[in-house]
Amino acid sequence: MTRGVTAYVALVVVAALVLSGAVVLLFPVELSGFTPWAGVIALLLLTVAGEALGVRTGRAVFSVSLIPTVTTVPLFGPCVAVVSTLVARTIAHAFILRTKPIKWIFNVCQFTLAIGLGSLVYVALGGGADYNTFHLGRILGPFGGLVVTYFVANITLVSGVIALDTRKRVIDVLRRFAPVAFANDLASSSFSIFVVFAFTQLGVAGLFVVLLPLFFLQHSYSLQNRLLKQNKEILEFTVRTIEAKDPYTSGHSERVASLGRELAEILGLPSHRVEEIETAGLLHDIGKIDFAYSELIGSPGGLTDVDRDIIRSHPERGAHLLESLSNMSDSVLAAVRHHHEHYDGNGYPAGLSGKDIPFGARVIMVVDTVDAMLSNRPYRPALSVEEVAAELRSFSGRQFDPFVVAKFLESGMLERAARRAEMDRTPLPLASSRQSARVVAY
Ligand SMILES: [Fe+2]
Repeated sequence: MTRGVTAYVALVVVAALVLSGAVVLLFPVELSGFTPWAGVIALLLLTVAGEALGVRTGRAVFSVSLIPTVTTVPLFGPCVAVVSTLVARTIAHAFILRTKPIKWIFNVCQFTLAIGLGSLVYVALGGGADYNTFHLGRILGPFGGLVVTYFVANITLVSGVIALDTRKRVIDVLRRFAPVAFANDLASSSFSIFVVFAFTQLGVAGLFVVLLPLFFLQHSYSLQNRLLKQNKEILEFTVRTIEAKDPYTSGHSERVASLGRELAEILGLPSHRVEEIETAGLLHDIGKIDFAYSELIGSPGGLTDVDRDIIRSHPERGAHLLESLSNMSDSVLAAVRHHHEHYDGNGYPAGLSGKDIPFGARVIMVVDTVDAMLSNRPYRPALSVEEVAAELRSFSGRQFDPFVVAKFLESGMLERAARRAEMDRTPLPLASSRQSARVVAY
């Protein structure tokens, strides 16, 4: 956790508390009778449940908890919305999920800030609090303002902390998360209108009639996600087992997967393409599982032409192996099969050139070679950041796609990749020299 992240979180906390205090003072609310109190408590509990049962994939969270939170604004007004957001999310994160204090404090405060700002815009556009009647025409404009403000505030605050934490540019983080967040927020907020309608017609029962099916959907998505995670772990385990035969390549595929994912995000690819490139990065050398290949590892003396042919067959072998898996997309297979094609047509196995090489394969080619250059090999030490950058520039347009290389170099990824490779580095044997600095990634 950097000092920048801590200062940013502190700023968000202060802003959330100041805004909450102002909203409570400016829009005090008096709830009388069973229905409004039961509604407030039910929405608060539904928010807690939605947040606690949310599906977490990496940094993204898919949860229905936004629906009861947004619903609170037109039913009970800004004061209830802000206070219940603060309470519900604190219960979910601090006492149920038990996330790290700095994480849950940031999450609770950024959410409260976003909902608070959205509520102010809702009121400024003429929106009122009404749990007895429903007028679509009256609510639609202010509700739109609430949703847009919430979305902009939420995505900006979250992207800011991710950018600081990962040392990426805010624009790259925004490009990655905004489309998914927008779709999620738009769907959630549109649905909130139904929930408001259901409450005005049926009271608390209306909330459960409309929201319970969504909780079941979220649960089934969570089960599916768990299955996908297990599949991924099995693949990672398989790759680790293969790489364990050679300490110098240990961890290489997982680093290539991670770098491939990051570069794909920087290139602005849609999320399913990012996932495919990450998978291809993890599995790009799976063809090396072949026993003929393992006999070559650590064998004394140079490689014969036959040995070289065996090594060069690994992309095809890998793609053939992966074809037998039902959930492997053509794009992943193509990236694995062609990850040793050179931009000028001098690579293998098909000798493809330029744009004929699948884009995923061109991305893997760059990150695969970068990680190889940043790693020690028995016959040479790891290259420095400057040496790697020089190699990339020198072979741009020959081995590498110039566009992919340019994006990689301008993104600052190389420095991050070097830090990670250094942590995983296997020490050199004493006899190694810097004579063969040029890396040919097999
Ligand atoms: Fe390879």
